[in-house]
Amino acid sequence: MLKFPIYADYNATTPVDKLVLEAMLPYFTQHFGNAASRGHIMGLDADEAIINARKQVANLIGATDKEIIFTSGATESINLALKGVFSLYRTKGNHIITVQTAHKAMLESCEFIEKMGGEVTYLPVDKNGLVSPAVVEAAMKPTTILVALLHANNETGVIQPLREISKVVHRHGAIVFSDAAQAIGKIKIQVDDDGIDLMAISAHKIYGPKGVGALYIRRKNPRVTLAPQIHGGGHERGLRSGTQNVPGIVGLGHAAMLCGAEMKEESLRLAALRARLEKGLLEIPRTFINGKVAERLTHVTNICFEGIDSGTVLNGFNRKIAISTGSACSSALPSPSHVLQAMGLTAQEASASFRFSLGRFSTEEEVDYIVEQVQLHVGMYRAQNPAWDETKGKIIKDAAMIEK
Ligand SMILES: Cc1ncc(COP(=O)(O)O)c(C=O)c1O
Repeated sequence: MLKFPIYADYNATTPVDKLVLEAMLPYFTQHFGNAASRGHIMGLDADEAIINARKQVANLIGATDKEIIFTSGATESINLALKGVFSLYRTKGNHIITVQTAHKAMLESCEFIEKMGGEVTYLPVDKNGLVSPAVVEAAMKPTTILVALLHANNETGVIQPLREISKVVHRHGAIVFSDAAQAIGKIKIQVDDDGIDLMAISAHKIYGPKGVGALYIRRKNPRVTLAPQIHGGGHERGLRSGTQNVPGIVGLGHAAMLCGAEMKEESLRLAALRARLEKGLLEIPRTFINGKVAERLTHVTNICFEGIDSGTVLNGFNRKIAISTGSACSSALPSPSHVLQAMGLTAQEASASFRFSLGRFSTEEEVDYIVEQVQLHVGMYRAQNPAWDETKGKIIKDAAMIEK
């Protein structure tokens, strides 16, 4: 039996897994001590829980626990990594490289750094959303201190060839930062093998709570140092002051542990579900997958249904199905996706695209219902649009022009 609303927006956020919630609950009312109160048992209990969570997160990515610091989420981790590196390494150089399809947290941090005297290169991507190591190499300068990439894109699921890119960056003596908010727990990431020096992680994308995340900071080969951006009591090795969110951190640790245990199987299960979804949706004429040829996270697909306005079509079923017309962080903004446009889509094609992201609780029955509803509503929209020409595919003229 279907339960409504059907959720297929797991890239925006995920429900907290019941096992994660169970692990967190005692830290609200029972073991509620301040982890910095090391003088008594209540503080020590809380501190022990944080030590354990640090190990759980470190285990997932092949790091050591000393290399993990907790933050309020990936946005904060990205800000800390980029601004923290820029502040400390700017005497060595002021150049940072990122990619046009990065998350707003990265792009806006880069814009801030530019205002502070930094130079930023925003690399283009090819039509599949990929940055090639050669393009990175060509952009490297003697002043480049950091290359900040998005491991897997939140809108398309496209995975960058990070391991190959890291080799290039390290050859030039710069640091590699990875925004792994979407990739972590979905694909295997090992910081040494993948050549990652700094990495942002978010709990709410992996069935943990909102408002908590982590930053991985490499301690050797090379040792990376950062200037803190939040000052105060010196928590998290002085890099992120503020009383630690013990229940949230416990939740992140537990969520990381569960993802690690089931990642392989779950990724295959989701690949099969996505194949079913794509097969059904591609039966709709004039439809294509964004980033199809690239390696993608197996639970995500981003599809353009030519000639529609995805926001208007979504209004037809958004009380029954939760999917997205872009990234959650930008969905309040009316402009078409910067990610899809960077991949070469026109503004009209970008506005005609939907992101479907499946997850731990998605079922075949739900996928079939999504297909049925999207088929119905895309068909209705096109049928009502006098400018839509099924054979030519494109909206040939603006609807208003035809009426005149
Ligand atoms: C790729 C990416 N980076 C960063 C973030 C921000 O994460 P948080 O919500 O934990 O601040 C998101 C969330 O949408 C994301 O998808």
